Amino acid sequence: MSLIFVAPDRSLSAWKDAIHKVDPNLDVEIWPQIDNPKRVQFAVCWNQPKHVLDNYPNLKAVSSLGAGVDHLLEDDFLPADVNICRVVSSSLIQQMKEYVLGTVISIQRNFVHYIRQKDQQQWQAHTHPLASDLAIGIMGLGKLGKPVAQQLSELGYQVNGWSRSPKTIENISTFAGRDEFSAFLQKTQILVCLLPLTDETNGILDLETLKQLQSPSWIINVARGEHLVDEDLIYALDTDIIKGAWLDVFSEEPLPDRHAFWNRSNIMITPHIASITQPSEVADQIVENYKRALSGMELNYEVDRQKGY
Ligand SMILES: NC(=O)c1ccc[n+]([C@@H]2O[C@H](COP(=O)([O-])OP(=O)(O)OC[C@H]3O[C@@H](n4cnc5c(N)ncnc54)[C@H](OP(=O)(O)O)[C@@H]3O)[C@@H](O)[C@H]2O)c1
Repeated sequence: MSLIFVAPDRSLSAWKDAIHKVDPNLDVEIWPQIDNPKRVQFAVCWNQPKHVLDNYPNLKAVSSLGAGVDHLLEDDFLPADVNICRVVSSSLIQQMKEYVLGTVISIQRNFVHYIRQKDQQQWQAHTHPLASDLAIGIMGLGKLGKPVAQQLSELGYQVNGWSRSPKTIENISTFAGRDEFSAFLQKTQILVCLLPLTDETNGILDLETLKQLQSPSWIINVARGEHLVDEDLIYALDTDIIKGAWLDVFSEEPLPDRHAFWNRSNIMITPHIASITQPSEVADQIVENYKRALSGMELNYEVDRQKGY
């Protein structure tokens, strides 16, 4: 039986080594060099080519290489009896906390302005709000969103959170479902998207959403590019509906040279680096799930295919 990695845009030798450190006897192969497709029972994937998993008739389960699973669920041909799971780790959470805190503070304290001013030897102070006067709204209170919200709250920001099902989190005002979405937005200045990409959340960062934020407002998208309607963001920036955006994810990655976002001084761009999975940290989870799949047990961090996350 074998476990395969299918991630064409990643260097996978570190992954193979990390798996072998956990279990030296495990048969690990890296796509496309697969000796015998019939032996493959578990696949770990990231941006896998469409239909590539059709080649493995005895596949029992598939794990995402990261926290998101949209690349797996959009593969309509993955049989219903193939279970899907993902990885979650303390370093994924820590990195996301760092990224969101860094962007929030950069926005609050005008750091981008000061970096640009320094290049022009310009000495000019800007006013900034106190943390206690800044309302941050976190969309998605899951494995990543909840600790991100808690960290901001502990640092003194006003924090609101929005999820599908109701939650109670100390010192955070929580909202749930579509019915409470407007109330959540109306209490928010910096909107952070940490939702999974599903049919319900695709395009959720549209003009209607942006218009409801408290002014002046910013968005930080660290979830998936498809959450954002690109033309609506450009319109909202051009008409002063919102002040700026910090984007780590894009509908097309790498962001194409011709894309309008590149030329906007009020859009900050990072190349999908907010939180990167470390092989050594999740290898044991993958091996554990591989063994669970072989013995027909429920997987850890299993995805609900109906909910889409
Ligand atoms: N940029 C990067 O480097 C990077 C790295 C890692 C992950 N990500 C992205 O971050 C996303 C979130 O990860 P996670 O591990 O925190 O996910 P998660 O644990 O599955 O949590 C998802 C959260 O979103 C909420 N949600 C889902 N659908 C919703 C809807 N229709 N309306 C309102 N709330 C909804 C869920 O509500 P309930 O709690 O009620 O279920 C839950 O709180 C991933 O899917 C991935 O796309 C990006």
